[in-house]
Amino acid sequence: MCRVPRGRFGAGLASKLASMSWANRFWGPLSRVLEFPQAIPRPRSYETTLIELAPSILSADFSRLGEQVRAAGEGGASVVHVDVMDGHFVPNLTIGPPVVKSLRKVTKLPLDCHLMIENPDEFIPMFAESGADWISVHQEACRHLNRTLHLIKSHNCLAGVVINPATPVDALTEVLDVVDYVLVMSVNPGFGGQKFIPGTLHKIRRLAEIRSQRGLGYRIEVDGGVALETVGDVVRAGGEILVAGNAVFGSGDPTRNAEALLKAASEAMLLKV
Ligand code: DX5
Ligand code: ZN
Repeated sequence: MCRVPRGRFGAGLASKLASMSWANRFWGPLSRVLEFPQAIPRPRSYETTLIELAPSILSADFSRLGEQVRAAGEGGASVVHVDVMDGHFVPNLTIGPPVVKSLRKVTKLPLDCHLMIENPDEFIPMFAESGADWISVHQEACRHLNRTLHLIKSHNCLAGVVINPATPVDALTEVLDVVDYVLVMSVNPGFGGQKFIPGTLHKIRRLAEIRSQRGLGYRIEVDGGVALETVGDVVRAGGEILVAGNAVFGSGDPTRNAEALLKAASEAMLLKV
C-alpha cells in the first residue's frame, strides 16, 4: 500500500513555532532573516536554514510512549526519530514496524525511521506501510545504495543516507543528488546517551559546502550526543535536523528539555547570521 507522504520538511512549522513562548523572543527576529522552505525539493541554491528538533524515542519511557512524544512536541519538536536496530549491524536490538504503526496513531509529526540494520531493502516496505515518513539507511549497510534510496522514494517516503563517524563524506558523492537528507552520526551507532564526537563537525561543514557548490537540496541531520553543550557547535557547522534522545527524554520534563535545546540552537544561529 502506497501512502501520500505526511509532514514534508518545514510545512506548518512557522505557525507552530510562533505560538510558543520562547519563540516570540527568539524566533521572531530569526524569522525575519530566514525563509521557510515549504516542501521538498528545497530551492536549488539558498542561504537559509530551518532548524528542527527530532527527539529520539530510544531514551523515552516506552510504557507511555504516546505521552512522551506529545510532551516533546509541545516543546517544539517537529519530527519523531525512531531508532531501529537489528543486533547485527549494531550491537543492540530495538523496535520494528509494529511500534511505528502505534506511533502513527498518536502523532501527526513525521516519523523519521533510522534503520541501523542489515538488508534494509527487505524491511523498507514494511516501515513505509506502518507509517514512516522519512527512512534513512546506512551507507555502510547497503551494497546497492542507489537502488535502496530509490526503493524508499518509491514508497513515497523521504530518503536519507547515514554515515558513521569513520565514514568520509566522499563516500556519498554519487548519491547526494538522490537523497532528501544526509544523517551524520556524531557517535558510533547502537546506544543512546553517548558522548558527542567533535571530530564529526567537519563533515557537517563539508556537506553544507558541497550542497551549495553543487546546487543540491538535501538537508543535514545530526545524531548522537546532541545536548545543550553541543547543539551550538552543531548548528553553527550547518546541522539542521537535530536528533536528541538523552537530552530530551533522559531526565526532567521533555517539553522543557525540547524548548531549551531549540532555544540554544536559535541563539547559536543568531550569532551565526
Ligand atoms: C544511536 C541512535 C541515536 C540515539 C541518540 O545509535 O541513532 O538516535 O538515540 O541518542 P543521544 O541523543 O542520547 O545520543
Ligand atoms: Zn538515530
